[in-house]
Amino acid sequence: MCIGTHYINMILYFCNIEQSYTNDYMKKYLVTGGAGFIGANFVKYVLAKWGSDVEILILDALTYAGNPMTIKEEIELPNVQFVKGDIGDRELVTRLMEEFDPDFVVNFAAESHVDRSITNPRLFLETNILGTQNILDCARKAWLDGTDDQGKPKYREGKKFLQISTDEVYGSLTKDYDTARPLEVSDEVERVIEGRKNLKTFGRGFFTEHTPLAPRSPYSAAKTSADLFVLAYHDTYGMPVNITRCSNNYGPYQFPEKLIPLIINNILEGKELPVYGKGENVRDWLYVADHAKAIDMVLREGRIGEVYNIGGFNEEQNINIVKSIIDIIARIMREEPTYRRLLRHPERPIDYSIIRYVTDRPGHDMRYAIDPTKIATELGWYPETPFTEGIEKTVRWNLDNQPWIESVTSGDYRKYYDEMYGNR
Ligand code: NAD
Ligand code: DAU
Repeated sequence: MCIGTHYINMILYFCNIEQSYTNDYMKKYLVTGGAGFIGANFVKYVLAKWGSDVEILILDALTYAGNPMTIKEEIELPNVQFVKGDIGDRELVTRLMEEFDPDFVVNFAAESHVDRSITNPRLFLETNILGTQNILDCARKAWLDGTDDQGKPKYREGKKFLQISTDEVYGSLTKDYDTARPLEVSDEVERVIEGRKNLKTFGRGFFTEHTPLAPRSPYSAAKTSADLFVLAYHDTYGMPVNITRCSNNYGPYQFPEKLIPLIINNILEGKELPVYGKGENVRDWLYVADHAKAIDMVLREGRIGEVYNIGGFNEEQNINIVKSIIDIIARIMREEPTYRRLLRHPERPIDYSIIRYVTDRPGHDMRYAIDPTKIATELGWYPETPFTEGIEKTVRWNLDNQPWIESVTSGDYRKYYDEMYGNR
């Protein structure tokens, strides 16, 4: 595909992006984990928004979750480079910091799946804590610019380290209502989120930036430790940092170990749909392009040293997410029968009878719900994509991109699936 067509496609894909926030001069981004789900969507977003006004270096170890196919077109562009490597590799990261000299380091690289952290916690410490500390320290050394009058470290103008964190660092909220109730928001938030109607909630409590950190899984404990190191580097060395803590993302290019793409893939494969426990746990779903926009706004306009929560105003119980995916795929198969060629077992039903309640995840957090007042009122960001629109796009993306799905579900994925769900 030629570059011109590529840009047009990206513009169509992110057609709700407008040039709203600042672009003072050419920015250079070092994006770690840029071949993964959110990192790759972020790269696509930044290129669609800023075009040749940015340079991007993607550093990714290409673990099972990183897929070079996802960023194949981007890394052919003259302003994008790709390096396969580990964020924990001191020599490599030092060299990249010197040679590329980024303005922004955006650290997406992580082991990201809670279920895998329960099976193999150690890897999560290595990547999420030690890897983050390594890249943080390399950035500190590369950006240091002497000391000020009081002997405190000074950093070169315009540099920033952004840690991509998660709402899971706050632990679990209570679910106070069996069925959703209308969500009231303050007048100041109402002014920002005009256009988002019918907001709802399952509880009285929400995660704000002041909620105490109380992680409950090996994954979230490791992410919390990384956050504490990032904040410690700010407090101790005065390093220019931000942290963003986001709720559950969904959208194109998500690895099918996570709920939404796993359910879509299982329906196409004619498998049962595993729902943990009673399916009553609540997550706050955010369309990934909205997350990408928030990250770029925090990079460019977030106050140094601050944490920003990012959420979808979109709480839902897992069982209802699963049912809505069944409904969408059943409708598409009815109304657009050419898609039926994707069904491995066309004779099997696509209805609620294929849901299977399975043994719950140990320590399963009951409810997440973000209060995004700070980012909405300080930076003017809000989750623009309503769930009905985002989930339809996500299902269709999965149907229309079967070669990508096949590239990540062959081999190791089948082994993972059998181990995780075989005896559940
Ligand atoms: P992902 O698992 O899809 O991608 C992670 C990427 O990091 C992969 O490309 C992988 O190859 C790479 N990677 C892993 N270890 C590495 C290492 N040692 N060195 C270099 N690269 C390495 O994850 P995701 O869902 O895109 O999440 C990205 C980040 O966002 C993570 O830090 C995660 O904690 C955070 N986050 C995710 C969500 C979500 O819903 N997925 C929500 C909030 C925050
Ligand atoms: O909240 C942000 C977090 O969201 C991120 O930090 C994590 O990286 C990301 O993986 C995600 O964590 P969850 O554990 O919430 O996502 P997951 O897709 O694994 O599960 C979503 C919900 O669905 C959760 O309550 C468990 C449930 N579930 C999941 C799977 C994979 C099922 O019921 N069945 C399943 O097969």
